[in-house]
Amino acid sequence: MNRHLISAGDLAKDDALLILDTAEELARVSERSIKKLPTLRGRTVVNLFFEDSTRTRISFEAAAKRLSADVINFSAKGSSVSKGESLKDTALTLEAMGADAVVIRHSASGAPYRLATWVHGSVVNAGDGTHEHPTQALLDAFSMRRRLGSLEGRKVTIVGDVLHSRVARSNVLLLHTLGAEVTLVAPPTLLPVSVGAWPCEVSYDLDAVLPKSDAVMMLRVQKERMNAAYFPSEREYSRRYGLDRDRFAKLPDDAIVMHPGPMNRGMEIAAEVADSARSTIVEQVANGVTIRMAVLYLLLGGETA
Ligand code: NCD
Repeated sequence: MNRHLISAGDLAKDDALLILDTAEELARVSERSIKKLPTLRGRTVVNLFFEDSTRTRISFEAAAKRLSADVINFSAKGSSVSKGESLKDTALTLEAMGADAVVIRHSASGAPYRLATWVHGSVVNAGDGTHEHPTQALLDAFSMRRRLGSLEGRKVTIVGDVLHSRVARSNVLLLHTLGAEVTLVAPPTLLPVSVGAWPCEVSYDLDAVLPKSDAVMMLRVQKERMNAAYFPSEREYSRRYGLDRDRFAKLPDDAIVMHPGPMNRGMEIAAEVADSARSTIVEQVANGVTIRMAVLYLLLGGETA
């Protein structure tokens, strides 16, 4: 496996399966009353968050701590970044502190690649702009595998604001590697121009795609990244692309509903669908810790789990 995890596209099928299988082993630890392993004792993991985050930051912190690593949490607010310090100088400071792994979330697509040229430790991309979020794709694949079994030939539908979603891009790449068939459904204005080159299908008709889906992943409408009007109104968006009760009924009986969070309840997903027994939304959060443990464990090259 590579020293860094920056793009889901860098993972060969064997790498991806190794991460998922390692996570499966580590999940057993998370079920114990004492959830800690000594594997990364003496190692330092720095969480470098320049953008807001709830679950991803907490999840990486919990993962590193469960493996007994020392964790330093850095958030741009309240740091010298607000005094204008550059990413490079921040990186060199971390380097001086001996970080073995740096987990970075940044609003600029590509920031983790730059960081990887300045630090000696492993760089893990926890979301860079609208580009990628590989550990989210891994935890999504892990959640699907636990509910549906092998992903080979499975039909996954990803719906909504693909244009601003690093989750969508990482999922398309990883799911393709794992043999699943992905269909993106979005208004034309919320699809990137490059989507034709992605290994997936595109549809504008959610009602036609739902009956053929094994999993449907709803994306958050990312208003904070929108600098123009991409759809006429929230109501109109919800009517055409929201997963409400009637649409949910069109899914096959054993299909699952996913969302990376945070949700706009009532917009891309109805509250009763989000809270239904076929929703994996809470499981995805729990699985996030397990997947991040597996990633840190494999990148930092611990011994046996
Ligand atoms: C996503 C993100 O930050 O890219 N959330 C997450 O990591 N759980 C998706 C989003 O913000 O909509």
